[in-house]
Amino acid sequence: MNDRTALVTGANKGIGKQIARLLAAEGLTVYVGSRDAGRGQQAVEEIGAGARPLVLDVRDPDGIVRAVAQVERLDVLVNNAGVSESLALPAETDIEEFRRTYETNVFGVVAVTNAFLPALRRSPRPRIVNISSGTASLTWSTNPNPQFTPGSGGAAAYRSSKAALNALTVLYAQTLAEDGFKVNALAPGLRATDLNPRAAAAGGDPAEAAQGAVRLALLPDDGPTGGFFSWDGTPVPW
Ligand SMILES: NC(=O)c1ccc[n+]([C@@H]2O[C@H](COP(=O)([O-])OP(=O)(O)OC[C@H]3O[C@@H](n4cnc5c(N)ncnc54)[C@H](OP(=O)(O)O)[C@@H]3O)[C@@H](O)[C@H]2O)c1
Repeated sequence: MNDRTALVTGANKGIGKQIARLLAAEGLTVYVGSRDAGRGQQAVEEIGAGARPLVLDVRDPDGIVRAVAQVERLDVLVNNAGVSESLALPAETDIEEFRRTYETNVFGVVAVTNAFLPALRRSPRPRIVNISSGTASLTWSTNPNPQFTPGSGGAAAYRSSKAALNALTVLYAQTLAEDGFKVNALAPGLRATDLNPRAAAAGGDPAEAAQGAVRLALLPDDGPTGGFFSWDGTPVPW
């Protein structure tokens, strides 16, 4: 199985770049998805052996078609590309922020997943990992817990987009199970990246989160599907 291939969307920086780096270290050929060719090439050079550039803006239907044409077979798809704009409450969030956020975090995942399904079906062990967020857990959002308190309805566009992604994870997992797919969602935890300046203060290492994504990307045949997991493998309540 050392001819395995993976695609990580939004892999030119942050958590995605660390996922690509770890998958390449596992011996996979990794397509480093980046909407900007230069930033993608830079990441490919930093990752080194096994990394390949793939220009891919998940909001661009024509670009997705061009990317699919460059990938014959795919064993692993990591839907990592994501955006987060504000911490606004739902009543204070402009509808356009919801649209922009869903365009990348939800519709982009559907577009990329559906487009790469034929390539994934050529794999004996297809795996899809959707990078979600613990902030999307409706259980955690409605129950007292160390991370989120009831009534903290901030980042409404982002959190609801990831809740939609969680729903899609279950639906894809159910409908692709007969074909040997494993489809799971990851809550990476707070990580110091450009997306999350607040986490920079906490210092969460993106590489630690990437380990959780790699575990789900390389699940054995008896591994779970349709699940939501923390970076350390602990199940996260929907
Ligand atoms: N950091 C955290 O604490 C945290 C917590 C929970 C979940 N997450 C999730 O983890 C994932 C990675 O985020 P991150 O923290 O690593 O953030 P990041 O450093 O900002 O990386 C986001 C990546 O997504 C790419 N991207 C954005 N829009 C795109 C598009 N339309 N097409 C293709 N790529 C696009 C970005 O590309 P550009 O460089 O071109 O902008 C970048 O490569 C996201 O799904 C995020 O929601 C992060």
